[in-house]
Amino acid sequence: MMIHVFPSGPLCSLRRALLVWLLPVFVLVGGASAGIAYWSYNQMVSTFMDNQMEMLAESLLVHGPDIMVPALTGDQVHEWGAYVVQVFDTNGQLLKSSWPELKTTLQTDDGFHDLRTGDMRWHVYTTAVKDVGAARRIQVLQSGEFRQHLAAGRAWTAIAPVIVLLPLATLILWCVVAVVSRAVGVIARQASAQDEHSIAELSLDRVPKEIAPLVISFNSLLTRLRDAFATQRRFVQDAAHELRTPITAVSLQLENLRGDFAPGAAAQRFDQLEAGVQRAQRLVDQLLRLSRQEAVGAEAAPRPVNVNDVLRESINALIALADQRGIDLGLETSGGPTDAAMLTCASGDLRSVVDNMIENALRYSPEGAVVDVRVMSHQGKLAIEVADTGAGIPEELLGRVFDRFFRVPGTDVRGSGLGLAIAQSAAQRCGMRITLRNRTDRSGLIARVETL
Ligand SMILES: Nc1ncnc2c1ncn2[C@@H]1O[C@H](COP(=O)(O)OP(=O)(O)O)[C@@H](O)[C@H]1O
Ligand SMILES: [Mg+2]
Repeated sequence: MMIHVFPSGPLCSLRRALLVWLLPVFVLVGGASAGIAYWSYNQMVSTFMDNQMEMLAESLLVHGPDIMVPALTGDQVHEWGAYVVQVFDTNGQLLKSSWPELKTTLQTDDGFHDLRTGDMRWHVYTTAVKDVGAARRIQVLQSGEFRQHLAAGRAWTAIAPVIVLLPLATLILWCVVAVVSRAVGVIARQASAQDEHSIAELSLDRVPKEIAPLVISFNSLLTRLRDAFATQRRFVQDAAHELRTPITAVSLQLENLRGDFAPGAAAQRFDQLEAGVQRAQRLVDQLLRLSRQEAVGAEAAPRPVNVNDVLRESINALIALADQRGIDLGLETSGGPTDAAMLTCASGDLRSVVDNMIENALRYSPEGAVVDVRVMSHQGKLAIEVADTGAGIPEELLGRVFDRFFRVPGTDVRGSGLGLAIAQSAAQRCGMRITLRNRTDRSGLIARVETL
């Protein structure tokens, strides 16, 4: 049968497992060593003291009838375990006692006995009658409680180190587990910092030997993942690149053909055909842009960018679309024009983020809508919000619109579903993140990009 050190469940704790297994062992070993100490010391003390009692009794027996027995106090008897000597005549009459308070009769049998008087226990040695003419009998008694205390004291000294060890061992275990957990935490942070753009192997520095195999296999998984991403990117890049040439050729051919169509039904269908080809061209461009953006090292070097400038450029480029749709597009900055909000970012990345957010707001809002662009900076953090008055996005789809090619079903606006994916990866490279939320004051969407 297999013993499970960790109880099953997703959150089995190393610390708890160690404590659950080791502490009972400590307690058990402590208890056993105390028991053994008690038993062996009791044995030793008994033998030693029994010998003494016997020798004392025998030595007193050889004295004459005027034998003197030293007077004892109750303290000496109970606390110090002093031997109480009783002298009897052969009829069992008590002649002398070193502690008269003790009322015990002469034991009929010689040798060692255990007696009780009231709630006291006594260990007794009664002398053997050596010859028939012996005039006296002697009894030597010792407190049973004293002997027990002596052995118990010894047992305590045996268990004391365990009692000290127990909290100490718990503390040490706690600390060791904390150190290991910290090492694992460092690896976990390294692992969670990975994304498809920056897959780097986890460092094996300071990794406990026991955890190293996990890190090594995780690293090999990361390598495979990096290769898989690279292959996928190459494929998309190659495919988009290869598609671009024939699509450009088709679009040129269409342009040449345009003049051949007289106004009417055929010209209308020609327009649709041209729009379709344009859409395909746009899609291929976006795909190419996405795969290039994602290629490691393909991005331009980061440099300080003035956020307000980028926003103005973007709005200038999109104002035609806003006018065409009768949308009121406004920019609201937190400070004056000189109060520049700066961001260190690769050139083009921030523009890509802002363009996508504003373009979506313009394209997915009805004609005559209002689109507000706001810049907010607070405690060194920067946020740009684009709020529109469109229909917003169903809550359950808010997370999915960042997926490549995902589009909210039912929209008649043309698009590829790649815009937000492109924007999010550009934002990530700027150390930012895009989040979407529906407006609560009215219908509409707020797209927000902020520094992390
Ligand atoms: N401002 C918005 N209002 C409503 N829906 C939006 C808005 N922005 C994005 N969406 C939804 O998210 C989907 C994904 O957007 P995006 O990635 O830019 O792709 P595309 O615009 O090419 O469809 C869009 O198809 C649209 O349904
Ligand atoms: Mg879009």
